[in-house]
Amino acid sequence: MKHGINIRLTKDAADFRACAKFMAATDPWLTLGRDYKACLRAVTAPAREVYAAKEAGRALGFVILQMTGTFRGYIQTVCVAPEARGRGIGTGLVRFAEERIFKDVPNVFICVSSFNRGAQRLYRRLGYKKTGKLKDFIVKGSDEILLRKTLGPIAGYRGK
Ligand SMILES: CC(C)(COP(=O)(O)OP(=O)(O)OC[C@H]1O[C@@H](n2cnc3c(N)ncnc32)[C@H](O)[C@@H]1OP(=O)(O)O)[C@@H](O)C(=O)NCCC(=O)NCCS
Repeated sequence: MKHGINIRLTKDAADFRACAKFMAATDPWLTLGRDYKACLRAVTAPAREVYAAKEAGRALGFVILQMTGTFRGYIQTVCVAPEARGRGIGTGLVRFAEERIFKDVPNVFICVSSFNRGAQRLYRRLGYKKTGKLKDFIVKGSDEILLRKTLGPIAGYRGK
């Protein structure tokens, strides 16, 4: 990752609160009606891996992974503080998540809201392909687009 920024697994409650605070103050979560409490529930749900990107000890962004269930390798959340956007941190977090996920499974999944054009552009650039559309999934009038990046079938995958 960029000079001076490191990405690490965190189990720190202060980081979880910071992540929920970032989320609740910005789209897509504003439009999706997810307030701070709902965001904090999503961050602290069981079986999540939360990684924080920090610069001089200050959290600038987070990525949250789900490594269980049918869609093992699901990037649940990517979020960068508004003042730190456009510096490559979001790209770094997704790349980091891919490396982590591909150690275990050959698929990375992400959902992106239909109105979130910026994030869609970012994922397209990183090689994600649209695999489905979940119509009116969270709120009426906006869809969730399911994206996937794959290294091949699950059967026989040995990890990277
Ligand atoms: C999407 C997001 C994680 C990208 O993080 P970032 O650190 O700004 O991204 P990078 O600097 O690595 O890459 C820049 C790309 O991200 C997107 N981006 C950058 N700033 C953005 C902003 N303020 N809002 C939305 N997307 C932005 C654009 O695609 C941009 O590419 P472009 O130069 O072609 O426009 C960040 O903008 C964010 O937290 N947005 C709000 C939450 C969100 O939408 N998360 C994704 C949910 S699926």
